[in-house]
Amino acid sequence: MEDSLYQYILDHSDKEPELLQKLDRQTHVTTINPRMLSGHLQGRILKMITQMVGAKTVLELGTFTGYSALCFAEGLPDDGIVHTIDDNDELEEFAQGFFAQSEHGYKIVQHIGKALEVIPTIEARFDLVFLDADKREYLEYYQAVFDKVHTGGYILADNTLWDGKVVQPVAHNDKQTIAVLEFNDFVANDPRVETVILPLRDGLTLIRKNS
Ligand SMILES: C[S@@+](CC[C@H](N)C(=O)[O-])C[C@H]1O[C@@H](n2cnc3c(N)ncnc32)[C@H](O)[C@@H]1O
Repeated sequence: MEDSLYQYILDHSDKEPELLQKLDRQTHVTTINPRMLSGHLQGRILKMITQMVGAKTVLELGTFTGYSALCFAEGLPDDGIVHTIDDNDELEEFAQGFFAQSEHGYKIVQHIGKALEVIPTIEARFDLVFLDADKREYLEYYQAVFDKVHTGGYILADNTLWDGKVVQPVAHNDKQTIAVLEFNDFVANDPRVETVILPLRDGLTLIRKNS
């Protein structure tokens, strides 16, 4: 999208809260791959989706520096809870510091570990799940969380257009693209769900669990 059009969208959408602006800046200064952070537009969308579906329990795979976890927390009611998992313990304190500064931070439970190992240890069912960790494991995440999602609940998956690579010739050793393609095909053919891919940023798939 053209920069001027993107700027217009930001100018006519809710402002990014100051704490998230600070988190974004700090992430750019201190991490190697700051582009992983959801950012202003996607963050506002995640908050609004949380409100739209009336979620009370959210599970996020891939905390990174805590940006999207804070957006989910913002959209939750006062007694809502977001469990967020990341296997990078070097980012734990960074994210925790920002959760502590937010009026919504008390709703966030941080887990450190491999998503596939931590998911079975969380005794909860979810209204909304956000897949945003290792792309090579998306299908396994989907299968691991499916029974924990309420009927009528939602699974969101980020980066499902994978920089446009989903429609380009794939190298046999490009495991991430192959895994994203497998995930997209599986979900599109899963009779238990309704699915739509939003062409937002790198592709955001919205999945509704019907049964
Ligand atoms: C794209 S970033 C998450 C961005 C974050 N959700 C946001 O929007 O600001 C992906 C994160 O997943 C984490 N990750 C990768 N593989 C993982 C795994 N197997 N289990 C848990 N976390 C993992 C990485 O450490 C990284 O912080």
